[in-house]
Amino acid sequence: MKINDHKWERRILVTGGAGFIGANFLLYELPKHPSWLFVNLDKLTYAANPDNLIDLKNSPNYIFHKGDICDRNLLVDLFERYNFDGLINFAAETHVDRSIMDPDFFFQTNLMGTLSLLETARKSMTAGRAFRFHQVSTDEVYGSLEGSGRFSETSPHRPSSPYAASKASADQAVMAYHRTYRMDTVITNCSNNFGPRQYPEKLIPLTILNCLSGKSIPIYGDGRQVRDWLYVEEHCRALELVFEHGNSGKAYNISTGYECENLELVKMICELVDRISGETGHADLIKFVADRPGHDRRYALDASRIETELGFEASCKFEHCLEQTVKWYIENSRWLKNCLGSNYQKYYERWYGNNPGDSDALQSD
Ligand code: NAD
Ligand code: TYD
Repeated sequence: MKINDHKWERRILVTGGAGFIGANFLLYELPKHPSWLFVNLDKLTYAANPDNLIDLKNSPNYIFHKGDICDRNLLVDLFERYNFDGLINFAAETHVDRSIMDPDFFFQTNLMGTLSLLETARKSMTAGRAFRFHQVSTDEVYGSLEGSGRFSETSPHRPSSPYAASKASADQAVMAYHRTYRMDTVITNCSNNFGPRQYPEKLIPLTILNCLSGKSIPIYGDGRQVRDWLYVEEHCRALELVFEHGNSGKAYNISTGYECENLELVKMICELVDRISGETGHADLIKFVADRPGHDRRYALDASRIETELGFEASCKFEHCLEQTVKWYIENSRWLKNCLGSNYQKYYERWYGNNPGDSDALQSD
């Protein structure tokens, strides 16, 4: 029997499922829903790691397609072939620093790609047939918080970086499709994720990698910027809740409320690497470098809507999740090695090499 002839209870398109959060989501969801078909469409950019998908290879309810969410012909073909009743859009260019160097890619994939998905879904909508469009977004759409307080879902969009602006504009396109075409949409705006399988350009895996390879750990500006850290598995649980039970047309913030200054976080990671590896002194690698242009000072989310409407609550402690994360990278050196191709080296040299405060980072490459 062909996979498409099977009577699936649900048929879901997951885009960007070979990246960090998408892969964790598929690994979390597939075993829970053997009667749902998951089709993963991913362009396999530098940020996708083939090892992310190894465990899914033989799952009967999983299909992978390599392709671009901007390719409308491909989308039409997939929608016709699988008759999806839902879509979760993870596909994006995601690194703020790369968006500062090359903004075009970000608007192309994050805005125009989302528009292609919206248009294909709209044209495939037929009366009486349910289709849910779930846009995975970020707290960065709200911009920077200077003092206390938290962003709620009604806070205005004030994006700082090209990445954040591309995500905010995509969110607004999704809202417009709900209002104008009555498309069943939900948006989730989550805080900074961490956990296994994150490409080591982001702060936490970059710090672990540089500890392991004895390279300097770059801290932008004074290192007192605050991020609101969310363990990726908690995020996956929240995504499932919103996809299944979220109210149509709404956005939901996702956070477990763990705020930390960058410098403090990096020191915690260095201590964990000291303890787990048995080699001390990793904090000596910390090096202050020039600040990121337009650097947001603080992110913090008010997640009371998802808690009260959908019953979401945090289930694990930050310190424990961070320790598990450090252990995972230490135990999965092959995974890390697969990330360190020429794209990574070129990016590292271009970004940190241009950073006047960090000539050492380059020299030790
Ligand atoms: P990631 O960079 O690890 O992975 C992105 C994936 O999308 C990759 O597999 C890549 O190949 C794929 N992709 C990129 N362009 C594509 C295209 N044009 N067509 C098809 N696939 C394409 O990203 P992530 O950290 O897993 O983030 C997933 C989503 O969550 C993104 O939408 C991001 O904006 C959002 N988000 C991430 C974080 C975080 O901390 N990582 C925080 C808030 C929101
Ligand atoms: P990052 O992981 O890039 O996520 P985001 O920019 O989406 O929050 O960065 C997290 C924080 O760490 C952010 O304030 C920037 C800072 N940072 C550094 O200080 N040094 C680095 O080398 C990187 C990559 C980030």
